[in-house]
Amino acid sequence: MRYSRFIACLISLLVLLVMYLPSYAEEEAGGVFGTQSFDDYERPQTCRSCHVDIYEQWSQSAMAMAFTHHWDEIEYFDLAVKHAEQNPELKDVVAGCNGCHAPIAWVSGEGNPPRPGSGSKADEGVSCDFCHTISARTGDTSFNFNYVVDPGKVKRGNREGGKSPHHKTEYLDFMRTAEYCGICHNEKDPHGIMVKSTQLEWAEGPYAAEGVPCQRCHMPGAEGRSANTSTREFPDIAQHLFHGAHDPGKVKGSIELRMNPDNREVEPGDAVVISVQLFNGKCGHKVPSGSAEERQLWLHVSAHCPGGKVYHLPVDLKGFEGEGETITSNALAYQDMGEMLGDPSFAGLPRDALEHEGDRIFCLPYFDPQGRRTIAQWNTMSLGTDYRIGPRETKIETFTWTVPDDVEFGTVVVRAELNYRRLVKSVAEFLKVPEDETEIIRVNDAETRFEIVDY
Ligand code: HEC
Ligand code: HEC
Ligand code: HEC
Ligand code: HEC
Ligand code: HEC
Repeated sequence: MRYSRFIACLISLLVLLVMYLPSYAEEEAGGVFGTQSFDDYERPQTCRSCHVDIYEQWSQSAMAMAFTHHWDEIEYFDLAVKHAEQNPELKDVVAGCNGCHAPIAWVSGEGNPPRPGSGSKADEGVSCDFCHTISARTGDTSFNFNYVVDPGKVKRGNREGGKSPHHKTEYLDFMRTAEYCGICHNEKDPHGIMVKSTQLEWAEGPYAAEGVPCQRCHMPGAEGRSANTSTREFPDIAQHLFHGAHDPGKVKGSIELRMNPDNREVEPGDAVVISVQLFNGKCGHKVPSGSAEERQLWLHVSAHCPGGKVYHLPVDLKGFEGEGETITSNALAYQDMGEMLGDPSFAGLPRDALEHEGDRIFCLPYFDPQGRRTIAQWNTMSLGTDYRIGPRETKIETFTWTVPDDVEFGTVVVRAELNYRRLVKSVAEFLKVPEDETEIIRVNDAETRFEIVDY
């Protein structure tokens, strides 16, 4: 009797251990800080001597500038580092930014790098030798730089049998998966909130089911050789474009628009309902994805009447919880920046800072511990209603408009514009981020018409 109780106890202990192990491994994410030395990694310029095109593609990408890019510098040094000075508990969190933005610095023990341009290890961003010597990940979910690193002579890649005079090559299946990218493209903040979920969004969507990973759209294959000195040709050499939010060409057209009125002949004083359909046919994840705390995607609809009068149409409310966050507004937000900068009198900044209030904005709102909107992913305590456009999803927005009594007879042209902005303008101006970060990209537009008639 006592013996079997002991066995039962032992079994439940084992079960508990097995349940606990994976989550423990996940907690270990980022455990490689300071385990390597900077000299264990080769500089990208060395790779360039044979992989010229790949180098030149990569060097223009956001990943090459993951530490040096102006907005990265400003958010990290002028906001996050300042916040950690106010609140020392955040020191490790802020050091951890480098686990993804300056991984070679991170693994070689530099958690507090100097500003860009000082020639530090961090300036290299996410570079060739770092990516090509990742060997696996820890845990069973990719997030928070849970890479396993193994720098050295062996460069891992997507093909068998590559022969190089400079290094050994090894085929690594993991490099061809979305989970590889998710190591840095999923992020959990210190409050346990997933503040970036690009790979997780992908995993729930149709592209995962069809076996189309990130690489197919962000590193498309083209005919050629991967090294100038190579003799092997392939139809699908991975182009290191990594184009995303910073590439207007990638963003334009990524959502398709169509619109129609419910009636083609309308009398003055009547109501007409305009429907706009937005189809995400090109992205493997939601739009916006990644740094959703600062990206803006909004739909503006206007009616252009005979005689030249223009009316801006507010979107019809659907009545879901948290909908207010999806309607453009200039109410004050981002008050947590006051705490970060040590200025308790800071009242906040206009939330969307866009030309028109009342437009639909497709977003995932981030809230600070006091429930106010924040653009600081590390200070996010909860997320609002996710109203972004999922992969292959179509959203329909309606605009009910009562045509004014004094409208002239003739044709009304209704225009829809879908715009994208990487960073909220009020925030950019406050933090002195250069203007190119707030350029407005026209994702798409559409037009429809109806007649004003008198029966
Ligand atoms: C963010 C990580 C990352 C960075 C940075 C990166 N690569 Fe790659 N590279 C990959 C992945 C992933 C693949 C495989 C893509 C696939 O499976 O389609 C790859 C493929 C390659 C290939 C083989 C191409 C082929 O199709 O045969 C070479 C060669 C290569 N990279 C060299 C480089 C060099 C040189 C640099 C720096 C200039 C670099 N990479 C930067 C992730 C990276
Ligand atoms: C002296 C020339 C040379 C240098 C320098 C060089 N490589 Fe290579 N590399 C090659 C050749 C040649 C191949 C084989 C290409 C083939 O035939 O597929 C190759 C293949 C690769 C592959 C394998 C791609 C696959 O087919 O899966 C990767 C990854 C790679 N190199 C990364 C790097 C990285 C990272 C650096 C810099 C640290 C680098 N290489 C520096 C010449 C070079
Ligand atoms: C070691 C971490 C790391 C890995 C691994 C990684 N990335 Fe990134 N990636 C980043 C960081 C950091 C940025 C943001 C750069 C910046 O600050 O603007 C980024 C930016 C990008 C962007 C540009 C987004 C924009 O705003 O323009 C694309 C696209 C991208 N990554 C795709 C990929 C793909 C595809 C893979 C897998 C093959 C991958 N990344 C693997 C860290 C990583
Ligand atoms: C079917 C093609 C496709 C697949 C698969 C895909 N993407 Fe994208 N991605 C796009 C397009 C198109 C855009 C530009 C529109 C946009 O910004 O969302 C984009 C944008 C991005 C951005 C910028 C998002 C933003 O708003 O800042 C990142 C980062 C990114 N992708 C990473 C990834 C990663 C990581 C994966 C895999 C987990 C992936 N993508 C899979 C097509 C794809
Ligand atoms: C788990 C990896 C990871 C961690 C940790 C991380 N980032 Fe990022 N960060 C990324 C990726 C990936 C992107 C690109 C996403 C996109 O383009 O939408 C990004 C984008 C950004 C951008 C926007 C770049 C742009 O040009 O729009 C800023 C700024 C930034 N991160 C700052 C930080 C700061 C500050 C921290 C620490 C508090 C941090 N990041 C922690 C992965 C990470």
